[in-house]
Amino acid sequence: MTTAPRASTTDRGRDPDDLLPSGVVSTRGDVPPLGRAARNRTSGIGIMATRRPYVGGNWKMHGELAAAVELTENLVAGIGDTVLKIDISIFPPFPYLQAVGHALGHTAISLGGQDCAAHLEGAHTGQTSPAMIADLGGKVALVGHSERRHELGESDAVVAAKARAALAADLQPVVCVGETLAQREAGNALQVVEKQVRAALEGLSATQVGRVVVAYEPVWAIGTGMTATPDDAQSAHAMIRALLGELYDAQLAGSVRIIYGGSVKAANAAELFAAPDVDGGLIGGASLKVEEFSSICQFASSS
Ligand code: 13P
Repeated sequence: MTTAPRASTTDRGRDPDDLLPSGVVSTRGDVPPLGRAARNRTSGIGIMATRRPYVGGNWKMHGELAAAVELTENLVAGIGDTVLKIDISIFPPFPYLQAVGHALGHTAISLGGQDCAAHLEGAHTGQTSPAMIADLGGKVALVGHSERRHELGESDAVVAAKARAALAADLQPVVCVGETLAQREAGNALQVVEKQVRAALEGLSATQVGRVVVAYEPVWAIGTGMTATPDDAQSAHAMIRALLGELYDAQLAGSVRIIYGGSVKAANAAELFAAPDVDGGLIGGASLKVEEFSSICQFASSS
């Protein structure tokens, strides 16, 4: 088992099970502790497992300092007790991490970086190390977001190095994968996603992968208003879970959260989260709207 994440001020008052590495389910009993929305589900590939839903809010390059703090305070109030039932992370722009961390106070909503460097320190101008994110109270980092793969040319190898660096700094990597429209139209969606997942996890132990969340975000669905159908999302997620079973084992495959991203909003969250291998969502635009994001979290907690 991995080392449990360091306790911090944001951990105070949390259920001790909440400090377990992600994907690791409490062994305190067969029944999930009160107030948790861990779901017993038989996945599309026949693996029965308990997973706690996960919702992330990726703010991308939006907002300004005062608005970021105000949004955080409103999210804490709007999300309320739902955060006791599922895992929720928000990913503000780097310059606002510390202020947003302060505004989160003692809530269990975790703070994350939208990216992290592949190194813990050194001469890497303009980059932010996972250790620095952790230093500001961050618990999570997105790696391999398609906007970085496509705007900045981040390769699978770079994404893998970032996932390793995040784990080395005790951050939970949320590894983003997804095909472009051209790749989907050519009938290659699943092969593309499989290659990205294989590359990102290259060299990671089962214990390390137990901390990873995989985010399936088809590029054509991001910010476009076009959403994958629940069936399309389910087939990609089931493929990823089967791949985890092949690379590691069925127990690990059953425990890793695989979340969907791409134009998720309150109006479509419930049907997406109802798919057996969709364990929550990575939300862009709708994460900037308190009511939308709170409702999405609510749907994840009752899915
Ligand atoms: P949208 O929800 O705005 O489509 O963005 C999804 C995304 O990229 C989350 O990382």
